[in-house]
Amino acid sequence: KRRIGILTSGGDCPGLNATIRGVAKACYERFGEDNVEIVGISNGYYGLINNLCKDMSPSVFSGILTQGGTIFGTKRQPFKMMQVIGEDNIDKVKNMKETYKKQKLDCLLTLGGNGTHKTSKLLSDEGLNVIGLPKTIDNDIYGTDVTFGFHTAVDIATDVLDRLHTTAASHSRVLLCEIMGNKAGWLTLNAGIAGGADVIIIPEIPYDIDKICDAVMARSASGKTFSIVAVAEGAFDVNEAKMKKKERAKKRAEAGIITATSRIAAQIQANTGLEARVCVPGHMLRGGAPSAYDRVLSTQFGVHAAYLIAKERYGRTVAKIGNKITSNKLEDIAGRTKFVDTENHLVIAARDIGVSFGD
Ligand code: F6P
Repeated sequence: KRRIGILTSGGDCPGLNATIRGVAKACYERFGEDNVEIVGISNGYYGLINNLCKDMSPSVFSGILTQGGTIFGTKRQPFKMMQVIGEDNIDKVKNMKETYKKQKLDCLLTLGGNGTHKTSKLLSDEGLNVIGLPKTIDNDIYGTDVTFGFHTAVDIATDVLDRLHTTAASHSRVLLCEIMGNKAGWLTLNAGIAGGADVIIIPEIPYDIDKICDAVMARSASGKTFSIVAVAEGAFDVNEAKMKKKERAKKRAEAGIITATSRIAAQIQANTGLEARVCVPGHMLRGGAPSAYDRVLSTQFGVHAAYLIAKERYGRTVAKIGNKITSNKLEDIAGRTKFVDTENHLVIAARDIGVSFGD
């Protein structure tokens, strides 16, 4: 019998359960239900460190296609968290290897983002049979065009921007929407275009506040009474671009600035005389049911993971490149982030319809 361990790690997102279901159903089909045992590992790597494992019956994987979150639970940065709660005096890698052994796993499937993939590579280097599955609303995993969770978040953020239009128009205001994406601006870029934003601010293109104000004023001058500004959570201005992340955070804290979005709103109001408001959908972008696109993608990813298990191709993570579902070696993608290239066709298209990036 094949014993397959599954864990979900890092921030949750829509499509985790659809992917788990895809893996399970594809394995049951491919190997026969009697020849597979799926072991659910609770709370990501924390569960692997502490042997929080449970054999799952096939019925667990029915009816979860549309369910948001993760049935296995997840934890962000378990190593750091364990330090904080004083559970740091154990050899975590040794423990994870022991759990793998104790549970008699043939392989371990890790559903997660960049941090998760780093640990997956580490475990793979330690001799475990690991297969990764790329999850994140940020779409910033290297080597795949798309991650599951991303399209759902784009849909939700677009809906928020649509709704902001009507209230912005009624009040003749500038409405800023802060969209998740600490490092990469994929979500803001896509939702910004889909939601008809007038200004899109992403970390890859440091902004100049004067340019943002110019764009807003130009709209006013042309008779448009309102503006919509989509801002990625991790955005920073041209002066901050010269600083390291820590220095930037320190400077902001000293100035009492919590986010770039709130600062931009205050500056727009002060510099243009237009009323500005901020909307932060935050974790709503990660909650609830996956979109149809993500259900399909998650299912395809799950099926491909089962294929990799059958072929015993480990040390890899599933990817979509063009229209093809494929996989990359963990060593080729771990520790790398996929950023928006400033020459990206979407950036160019947005500029071509008059969207300002504040640069
Ligand atoms: O990694 C995905 C993400 O959605 C980022 O865009 C965001 O910065 C982060 O999660 C916030 O997540 P949490 O509040 O769970 O730490």
